[in-house]
Amino acid sequence: MNVDDLPTPALVVDLDAFDANVATMAARWPATTLRPHVKAFKSTALAGRLAAAGHVAFCCATVREMEGMAAAGLGHDLLLANEVLGPAAERLGALARSGEARVTAAVDSDATVDAAADAGVTEVLVDVNIGLPRCGCHPADAGRLADRCRSRGMTVRGVMGYEGHLMREPAAAKATGVKQAGELLLTALEATGGDVASGGGTGTWSTNEWATELQAGSYCLMDTEYVAHAPEFAIALSLSTTVISSSPAWGVLDGGLKCLGMDHGNPTVLGAGECLFVSDEHITVGWRHGDWLEPGSRVRVLPAHVDPTVAYHDRMHVVHDGEVVDEWPVDLRGW
Ligand SMILES: Cc1ncc(COP(=O)(O)O)c(C=O)c1O
Repeated sequence: MNVDDLPTPALVVDLDAFDANVATMAARWPATTLRPHVKAFKSTALAGRLAAAGHVAFCCATVREMEGMAAAGLGHDLLLANEVLGPAAERLGALARSGEARVTAAVDSDATVDAAADAGVTEVLVDVNIGLPRCGCHPADAGRLADRCRSRGMTVRGVMGYEGHLMREPAAAKATGVKQAGELLLTALEATGGDVASGGGTGTWSTNEWATELQAGSYCLMDTEYVAHAPEFAIALSLSTTVISSSPAWGVLDGGLKCLGMDHGNPTVLGAGECLFVSDEHITVGWRHGDWLEPGSRVRVLPAHVDPTVAYHDRMHVVHDGEVVDEWPVDLRGW
């Protein structure tokens, strides 16, 4: 099938761009020095391609992602790089006890340590705050939490710290900031014991010198916002749309808020004017001189934020030379 025969709106992956992104990252972070983050693509089919390229250990953001990866036979070494409590922690423990996957949990408080231990999780990373105001304990508390983990019978594999606040910094500030963040994390690692320092992402893939495993995920598919901060990776993801209405001044595409992550701004419309605004089921484009399109025309739209965009769809259509060659279900959605 040709890409232009897909029912729209359809999420499309350019296979050549995807393969090139995987190869670029693997050249710097081969095998398990990369722990790809599945949150960016939520697809076991895509994860399977990364495993085939040697990256057999993964990060997840939700218990649903952990369970789905294990069920797909991709549970060699799964890190829940996020904090869970209550029923979510119990589900994580059930997965660990099932033996279907090697499960490691991030913990950053007495509450998350106890939830993991109570649920039957046996391996943890102490999550350390290295500058992003989100999860992670104070670096000075890492050793105490590690002791608490061990007193509850769990193995401390090391630490994780995510320098998400630095991904979009200019080069010089990024280099300094990532170095300082690494010093915080490696000091914490001395206090916790273990040999893992997990961290980093697409925006620091070439700056981070301290992670024993990089947690990048966006690099596989990319988006218009992130490409400015990691230009070595190509935008492989687009939305195929159809012009459903066209007046002399503007046109309307059959995409919208329900199929595009919009928190990083408007999408980029290729060859069909400029995106004026996006509503639930519509993208309104203003025609520029000479780019008027008639109803029925196909238009490619580049999303501004990959993660939430993918999460709106139930499949990605994989395209090579204009032909649809594969379909990757987005099977890790939900919670
Ligand atoms: C814990 C964690 N690690 C790593 C990443 C890196 O992902 P990306 O490839 O989008 O930079 C993220 C992204 O949000 C994250 O939350």
